[in-house]
Amino acid sequence: MIEVKQASKKIIAEANIILFDKVTSIPASMLGSNIKNKLKGIELKKPLSYFDGTTLFFYQLCNDSKDWKNREQLRKNAALAVSTMKSQNLTQVKICDYCGVSAAVKAYCEGIILGSYSFTKYKTDKKVKNSNEFAVYLSSKKIKSAELKEWNILWEAVYKSRDLVNEPNSYLTAPKLSEEFVKMGKEAGFQVEVWNETKIKAQKMGGILGVNSGSMMPPTFNIMEYKPKGAKNKKPIVLVGKGVVYDTGGMSLKPTANSMDYMKCDMAGSAVVAGILYAAAKSKLPLHIIGLVPATDNRPGEEAIVPGDIITMYSGNTVEVKNTDAEGRLILADALHYAKKLNPELVIDFATLTGAAVRAIGSYASAIMGTASDKVFNAVENKGYETFERVIRFPLWDEYGDELKSDIADFSNLGKGEGGQMSAGKFLEKFTDYPWLHLDIAGTAFMHSSADYRPAGGTGVGVRLIFEYLKTLI
Ligand code: BES
Ligand code: ZN
Ligand code: ZN
Repeated sequence: MIEVKQASKKIIAEANIILFDKVTSIPASMLGSNIKNKLKGIELKKPLSYFDGTTLFFYQLCNDSKDWKNREQLRKNAALAVSTMKSQNLTQVKICDYCGVSAAVKAYCEGIILGSYSFTKYKTDKKVKNSNEFAVYLSSKKIKSAELKEWNILWEAVYKSRDLVNEPNSYLTAPKLSEEFVKMGKEAGFQVEVWNETKIKAQKMGGILGVNSGSMMPPTFNIMEYKPKGAKNKKPIVLVGKGVVYDTGGMSLKPTANSMDYMKCDMAGSAVVAGILYAAAKSKLPLHIIGLVPATDNRPGEEAIVPGDIITMYSGNTVEVKNTDAEGRLILADALHYAKKLNPELVIDFATLTGAAVRAIGSYASAIMGTASDKVFNAVENKGYETFERVIRFPLWDEYGDELKSDIADFSNLGKGEGGQMSAGKFLEKFTDYPWLHLDIAGTAFMHSSADYRPAGGTGVGVRLIFEYLKTLI
């Protein structure tokens, strides 16, 4: 993990990044000859780079950093600076803050760190494997070490979340995912209880068992808890994540081209939950948070459920499974029903749930819906712009629920193709009786090619968004 370290006076880096709002705030020692003139017409969008023969300099204007679009531009520029430095084999950079605006410095450092991420676990070439080694220093009068520490923890949590999504199913089975949660819990300081198949059967979690029936690997149900002394909330915040470690579609098999290729990412919701708990526990956020993850793969198999089968859920409801590819809602339903026992203040679930959400908004935002108060929706929307993990609200009108009628069971798991993110939401809603927010991250959790500070693969979307939201509750 690359982190931003506080620069000691002695550090002379191979590259200096000068963050400034006015040219006059830059000390003369950081201004090479002729640079002053060139900086006159500089724009935030177009940083200036300059090589003085020994050191590379980037001059980055940071004016008007209250504007979320400007902050996003800073993240992007930072990622671009990282690729320039890497292409020149530089291994060290010092960020010099002469603007003194915390939000701008944070955005820039975020672009550097998140843009430096790569998943090299399976690379055998040592050079590629070590390409992550990059030292980043920050010299700033404004940013105190506690603030920097919290930023680093959050970015580390995003790395962890991305790592989990990038792991292929050949490694990451449901039991392995549980082991990873246990490791994260030990590192950060939260408890993890793992229910095995026997316990899941004893509890009659029919949604999880139904989806798992075609699998060679057992399912798990994971309960993570972070309960600090002096927590500000009396009732817990519960986070639920879809943990489908691979989604073939089951007997309603996905056609192979495109639609199945990236389905190792179908546990991204669970990676967000673990990432948020990691960040919260490690930075000692005074909030009681519980994470729930139902985990399994979804495959055809001799004993797999087939379209038309009826399963009895943990809640006792019967569901006609009209399409085995709509499996996320089946496992989430059991977790959402379990959450009722926890008397939660708010439940937030994260799931790569529907292709319909992707078709509606592409990869530019996550779809949100639910029964939480407008206050919660507005706060999460605001944090969406702040973190550039944008969300857009969709309605849970009754008509979408009507699509789930079944002739022979309580309801079916399949609505219409159009507006499918809402019928999926309506399905989940049936298993809730508390304020609830649902994030469909199917379009945002995984990038097929790299874009700025989001390399191809898992994005970790949701970790920064909800961590920042949770901080508003303390
Ligand atoms: N895991 C998929 C949704 C998905 C699509 C995730 C694209 C990431 C990217 C989900 O389980 C699924 O297959 N949904 C079906 C539901 C349909 C059968 C009602 C879909 O969206 O097509
Ligand atoms: Zn599916
Ligand atoms: Zn799925």
